[in-house]
Parts: sequence; C-alpha cells; structure tokens
Amino acid sequence: MDQPAPGTLDVLYAPPGASPARSDIAKGLRRRAAKLLLVSVVGFGVAFAVMLVAPSSSIPALLFVLSALTSATGAGHALYALAKGVTVSAGTGAALSALGIAATNVFMMALGAITALLSTMSFTRGRQIRAFGRILLAPVVPGSAWSEPTTKADLALAPATEALDADTRAALAAQWRENGRTEHASVAAFARLTLDLVALGAPPELVGAANQDALDEIRHAELCFALARRLDGVAARPGAFPAAARARTLSRMRSIALAELAVDSLVDGALHEGVSARVVAKLARRCADPAIAAMLKEIAADEGRHARHGWDVVRWCLDEGGVAVAGALLGALRTLPTAMRSPLPEEARAGGWERFGIMGAALEAEEYEAARADVVRRVTELAGRAAPPSVAA
Ligand SMILES: [Fe+2]
Ligand SMILES: [Fe+2]
Repeated sequence: MDQPAPGTLDVLYAPPGASPARSDIAKGLRRRAAKLLLVSVVGFGVAFAVMLVAPSSSIPALLFVLSALTSATGAGHALYALAKGVTVSAGTGAALSALGIAATNVFMMALGAITALLSTMSFTRGRQIRAFGRILLAPVVPGSAWSEPTTKADLALAPATEALDADTRAALAAQWRENGRTEHASVAAFARLTLDLVALGAPPELVGAANQDALDEIRHAELCFALARRLDGVAARPGAFPAAARARTLSRMRSIALAELAVDSLVDGALHEGVSARVVAKLARRCADPAIAAMLKEIAADEGRHARHGWDVVRWCLDEGGVAVAGALLGALRTLPTAMRSPLPEEARAGGWERFGIMGAALEAEEYEAARADVVRRVTELAGRAAPPSVAA
C-alpha cells in the first residue's frame, strides 16, 4: 500500500488498526487540538475580563476574534481529520454529509455568537458603524449646519426649562449632542445597509425602507443638535467622519453574508431600534417640556418603524439562506447580554433628567429586558421552522 506523504492530514489521522507510527502522530494531533482549545478558552476568559474593566476599549473584541480564530483552526483540523477517518473506515457519503452539516451549523452559530458579541459591547440607539465592536462616532466641531432653527422643529422650550441654571443647560446640551452623534452615525449605518441589500439582490421594498430610514436619521440628528443649541446657545455639528466610508463589508460568500446581515439586523435593527422606540416613547410621556415631548414622540414612531424594517431584513435573509441563517440567529441569541451598559451621566442615571427627555438607567433596563424577551421569542419561532431539531434552542 502507498504511504501518504509525511505532513499531510492523511498521515496525521490514524484509523483503527493503524501502524504505531500513525497512532503516535494521531496522538500528537489530539494533543495539539486540546492545546488550541485551552488557548481559545483562556483567550475568551481574558476578553470577557477586559471587557468588564474597560467596556469602551477595542481590545476585548480583538481578543474575541483571536480566540475564535484559534478554536476555528482546531475545529477545522479535527473535523477534517474525522471526515477522512469516516471515509477510510466506512466509506459512507451519508456520514460525511452529516458531518458537513454539523460543521456548517457549528460555524454559523459561532459566527452569530461572535457577531452579536461585537455588536452589543456598547449601548446603541439603533444601527451604528463599528470597528472591532467599538461604536464609531463623528467628532463634534463648531458650525451650525445641523442645528439651524427650521420649521422642522418647534423648539420653543417651556418656562421651566428656560429657567434652568447655565450648568444644567450645558450638561443637558452635551447629552443631546451625544444623542445627535449616534443619530448621525445611523445615517451612515443605513447607507451601509442599502449597499449590503443591493449586493445581495434584495427586493426594492427593503432597499427603499433602508433609504427612508436613513432620511429619518438625518432628521433625528438635526433635532438633537438643534435642541442642544437651543439649550446652551452653542452652534456645533458633527464633523468629518471618514470611518463611515470604511465600514465593515459583508463576506463574499453569499451564505455567510446572509447570516451576517441577518444577525446585524436582528441586533442593531430589531433589538436596538426596538429598545430605542420603547425608551423614547416612554420618555415622551414622562417629559415635562411639551416641545421636547413632541420631538420624542416623532422619533419614537420612526424608531418603531426602523425596528420593523429590521425584522423584514431578518425574515428575508432567512428565506434566502435557510438553515444556515437560522443557525446564525440562534447562535446570536445565546450571546445577547441580559442588560445594557449605557454610558449615562451621573445626573441622568437616577432618572432625574427624564423630564428633559434623557433616560435613566432603570427605564433603559426595563425596556431592554422587554425588547430582548420579544426578540428571543420571535427568533426561536422564526428560526425553529428552518433549523433542524438539534440546532433549535
Ligand atoms: Fe434615530
Ligand atoms: Fe433608527
């Protein structure tokens, strides 16, 4: 019998009855796989620890990626060697096919989990532009382009708001500018979504909705910057944002791209836009200033529509990608955080600024929990129809 060339997986994998030399090599392979697994587990542990200490750092995301790549390398070798072994000992195409499906599911679930982790490492008010999980925002620079008083917003503030001291008005204005920055970044995120949808051949309704949502976000950003200016008199605007043009693109492999888009739309669209809609709707009712309340009511209605559009994208990806997308979505569910970590100013945290339209921590926690439960229920239902029983959560 011909001996395989040294160094190949044919040599490394030892089927039953193999020579002692091949067994030794197989033992070495198992040891190497175990080491890779250990490195990967430690890497994930360190990444979580760093994330708790420095939630705004990009280091945890990088560690997650490196750990995932390590485990993927080990898993890839192991699965390949196993597949070769099945072929040698049984020669059944069915066994290979089963292994292939299992490997695809594992990969897709890992992909969903990692993407969800990267997407949920910071609080977001909807779709955002990210690099290694960190949300990217434009700097705030002097200028009035995004805060011109227009007929779009009646920002005649109530006497109680006008009577606030200068420090409080400046602090509130700073928070509204932060909100404005996230709304501004959402414009780029929806433009990215448009490109992704067109690249994947999505129907005109989805592409149109993404464009309409981007226009809504322009208006939200203008409203936020205009309100901030009304509060502290400072004309400031979002500056150049070159990162928007370098936003992450989808994989070239269609099945993976569909899974990525589905998970993105689930987390950023269905979940985060949904949380935003719930929070802002409640703020509109709690806000004591009629002008700010009217603005919040309008934004809440828009965000609710954006969340529904997020679900539309998820469903389309499921229709197109089937079981693989279902696996990615179920994987994403497993890593959704149970709470959001919103970087709120101390004054707002206790809810004292809700009368001015800035949420407190309790409101955010309550609405996130409700939106998350809804997402888990709906995804389990949607993906369960496409996923095989072994994958369903
Ligand atoms: Fe928005
Ligand atoms: Fe939105």
